[in-house]
Amino acid sequence: MCGIVGYIGHREAYPIIIKGLQRLEYRGYDSAGIALYDGNAIKLSKTKGKVSDLKNKIENEISTDGTLGIGHTRWATHGVPNDVNSHPHYSNSGDLVIIHNGIIENYDSLKKELIKRGYTFHSDTDTEVLVNLIEEVQKNDNLKLGKAVQVALNQVVGAYAIAVFDKNKPNEIVVAKLGSPLAIGIGDDEFFIASDASPFIEYTKNAIYLEDEEMAIIRRGKKIKVRKIKNDVLVDPYVQELQLNLEQIEKGGYDHFMLKEIYEQPSAILDTFRGRLLSNEGMIKLAGVEDNMKKFLAADRIIIVACGTSWHAGLVAEYIFEDLARIPVEVEYASEFRYRNPVITEKDIVIAISQSGETADTLAAIKLAKSKGAFVFGVCNVVGSTIARETDAGAYTHAGPEIGVASTKAFTTQITVLTLMALRLARAKGTMSSSEFRHHLIELETIPGKVEEALKSDAYVKTVAEIYKDSKNCLYLGRGFNFPVALEGALKLKEISYIHAEGYPAAEMKHGPIALIDEHMPVIVIATKMGHYDKVVSNIQEIKARKGKIIGIVTKGDTSVKELADHVIEVPETLECLTPLLTTIPLQLLSYHIAVMLEKNVDQPRNLAKSVTVE
Ligand code: AGP
Ligand code: GLU
Repeated sequence: MCGIVGYIGHREAYPIIIKGLQRLEYRGYDSAGIALYDGNAIKLSKTKGKVSDLKNKIENEISTDGTLGIGHTRWATHGVPNDVNSHPHYSNSGDLVIIHNGIIENYDSLKKELIKRGYTFHSDTDTEVLVNLIEEVQKNDNLKLGKAVQVALNQVVGAYAIAVFDKNKPNEIVVAKLGSPLAIGIGDDEFFIASDASPFIEYTKNAIYLEDEEMAIIRRGKKIKVRKIKNDVLVDPYVQELQLNLEQIEKGGYDHFMLKEIYEQPSAILDTFRGRLLSNEGMIKLAGVEDNMKKFLAADRIIIVACGTSWHAGLVAEYIFEDLARIPVEVEYASEFRYRNPVITEKDIVIAISQSGETADTLAAIKLAKSKGAFVFGVCNVVGSTIARETDAGAYTHAGPEIGVASTKAFTTQITVLTLMALRLARAKGTMSSSEFRHHLIELETIPGKVEEALKSDAYVKTVAEIYKDSKNCLYLGRGFNFPVALEGALKLKEISYIHAEGYPAAEMKHGPIALIDEHMPVIVIATKMGHYDKVVSNIQEIKARKGKIIGIVTKGDTSVKELADHVIEVPETLECLTPLLTTIPLQLLSYHIAVMLEKNVDQPRNLAKSVTVE
């Protein structure tokens, strides 16, 4: 999910690639590597760590000649970050070398088949499976590299941006894309390959952005050939003239990483599903749960430990686990849990949720739970992080690197993984009929599209932000599954705009916070047409009677709240337990726009760190 760079032309490839990898560092990564072809052989060097570590290693290890090369920054999805798992990867013969961003969902079955055919594997990556599959196809059918890549990719399920070359055909690089980005810079008798245009912006302004399911054969001195991977149709590629500067490119054309990450949520949720949500087969596959099913089924209760936004995802999960799988759940602030002498037994399952996988309080809570004999399951985003290693089993969120300090896509993908877990357990426990289960799977599959639709409220949310940006306080209310979303909405506003905000269960308002309401108080009420809708409408009446300003987050087509509220922001309809994945979106956008209007540092708010590694 991170960065790729490649070059073929008349210049030395190494300086272009190493600088290109440095330019892609902003994307977040855990290891880096390069393969160069010097006219005789491939020279490959890779390492866990930073591009600067790679540079030191290469300059001591290999000569850097050659006018063809590829480079990679890895953000691990399959196999911990270490030297061996870093890219590039060789095929078994040593002829092919590949770099890959993305996830090959069916890598396991492909790997088993290749092992049967005599292939051996040195890394734990899905990528090494792909390069060997290409080799197998190439050998068996005596195909040219481009054709072999095409045939192999037609057997692959997943997401990829790849660049591969063959040392026996050192005048071409084959690239392909599905799901992960890939740009080709076109110079004078030279080509650049990269995840975005930042590595080649000073060499050329002309670029082709490959579309999904397209591949290109890039030959020295020849015209690029782009074709559809599925049906082999030749495509006339659109060559764009780049207008963006370096910083704009890094942010994908967005003004801030936070906004980019908000907009990445449809694809991030899809990545969380990959290989796990199999709605056609009516199945959910989560290896960490499957391998420990007995423990999950025997558990007396689940204790969730986390901090901040991850704690809010835990609260959403509490509602979902209890509702669907009928397992009692307690959600604890990791920082409290670790110091309050909690009652934990061997029959408890502790789920630790953490984007970074490095949060000190969560780590300490895990250690405590393990010392009492509980089984600890991790839900982390960063592969190979300390929490991922310390837990007994787990499921990654696969959201890709999150750079903005305020968590956005990490939250929705955590909820996605936890929903998959709850559904799988509900089925195993028999608390859900098979038709209900299927119905949930089918609906869950529509969520990325519905998040996309929810994002369309952006322009309207901006007009609402303009009206309330100077507020000193703000209340967020929600009930049931959406109570934790109210907490998360308030946290987002506090974190990046420094406006005081509180989240409450809507019905709690009358027990205190209602005293705060007057004509200056904006109240954001999540009032989707499910569950406790009528009750929430009554809560809205109570706010209106006290002249509070009401911003309703409602289901598309709602009329009742529209009559009462000052503003309504619509989200698509879905099952009640899935609404948090949609109602969160306008709240993220609202805080974002307010913070921008107040000229705050959106991506690096004052006093906050992305990963809190101290108590
Ligand atoms: C989220 O916007 C915050 N910056 C913060 O609350 C964060 O969620 C918390 O520190 C936990 O981090 P983790 O998920 O990496 O463990
Ligand atoms: N799935 C591959 C791996 O884990 C690629 C990860 C990436 O996109 O960097 O090695």
